Amino acid sequence: MGVTLETVDGRLAMRSDGDAPGSGVAIDLGTIDVRSLGGHPLVRAVGRGVGTVVDATAGLGGDAWILAASGRSVVAIERHALMHALLDDALAHARSTPALAHVAARITLMHADARHALAEAARGAWSILVDPMFPPKSKSALAPRDIRLVKEAVGDDPDAAELLAAALATTAARIIVKRPHEAPPLGGPAHHVIESRLVRYDIYDRPHLMPRP
Ligand SMILES: C[S@@+](CC[C@H](N)C(=O)[O-])C[C@H]1O[C@@H](n2cnc3c(N)ncnc32)[C@H](O)[C@@H]1O
Repeated sequence: MGVTLETVDGRLAMRSDGDAPGSGVAIDLGTIDVRSLGGHPLVRAVGRGVGTVVDATAGLGGDAWILAASGRSVVAIERHALMHALLDDALAHARSTPALAHVAARITLMHADARHALAEAARGAWSILVDPMFPPKSKSALAPRDIRLVKEAVGDDPDAAELLAAALATTAARIIVKRPHEAPPLGGPAHHVIESRLVRYDIYDRPHLMPRP
């Protein structure tokens, strides 16, 4: 079954084709918990290097939002037209919401395939985050509805290794791959690994590209 876009309460929303019209869900960036982000595993994985972070797999925008709320400038890239449209609407809504506008202002969203866009988009960036879809351990009936809908819309990302290769071909000093615990590393053994309850961050550092202090 496919996924349909519709307008619900003035916001762009998605629902399964079989769901009742009007039951679609929009992305609500304001619900993401951004308290005490210093200890957040993604923020720790990105570290303190100076420069933009490129989120090569923007999806629902949660990771881009956390990074922006932690003070980073983020270039978020999404290739799927439906996902891009949803996130674009969510960011426009956040920009017009006084409590969220300063975070939204740090995110630039691009509609592109990051395998091709990274060479340009990551120029001068400190790091690149890669978080491709990964088949769940079991049929995740418990996954929140928005995650299930993303899966339905996007499917798997069988070209994830090509995306990592494109990230490694840039001049970003740090590449971070977000993976479920059960997934093998996408790019061979990582230099550092940060574990959180649900996922793992595999970090590939390129010391020759690190800005000198
Ligand atoms: C697991 S989701 C990312 C979730 C995201 N980190 C978040 O916080 O919501 C993967 C997303 O990356 C997108 N994607 C996968 N490969 C891509 C590529 N080469 N270029 C751009 N987007 C890509 C998919 O369309 C999907 O929306």
